[in-house]
Amino acid sequence: MAYLIWNKNYSVGIKAMDNQHKKLFNIINDLHDGMSSGSTDEVMRKVLSELCDYTKFHFTEEETLMSINDYPELSSHKEAHNKLCEKLQNLQQQFDERKSNLTIILKIENFLSSWLVNHIKGLDKKYGLYLNNKGII
Ligand code: FEO
Repeated sequence: MAYLIWNKNYSVGIKAMDNQHKKLFNIINDLHDGMSSGSTDEVMRKVLSELCDYTKFHFTEEETLMSINDYPELSSHKEAHNKLCEKLQNLQQQFDERKSNLTIILKIENFLSSWLVNHIKGLDKKYGLYLNNKGII
């Protein structure tokens, strides 16, 4: 069973961003599955790298969307994204430096899933509403 399941309560009202959030959920599920089935460090490194790359891609897309629509809370939203990227980079570095990586993967999985869920339900829904009011869906 999937570790994180997207449902309409996570919708920010903007289809493209919902799809990107679903993809992030899927990568976190891959990380979880890889850990549960004892995948090699090499496989986990690839999933982790995909997770970091896709997270950065998503943040850039979201920030661009907010920027071109003059979202007034762009800078604080960006700050939240930057903090997450720093933390994720740090965890990825820890993964690379350690021999036993299970604890790091667990940390990443727990931290990221709760961060993402709270972020989507809070800050992301806020810009979604702002854009919806401008007729963007
Ligand atoms: Fe969907 Fe602000 O991250």
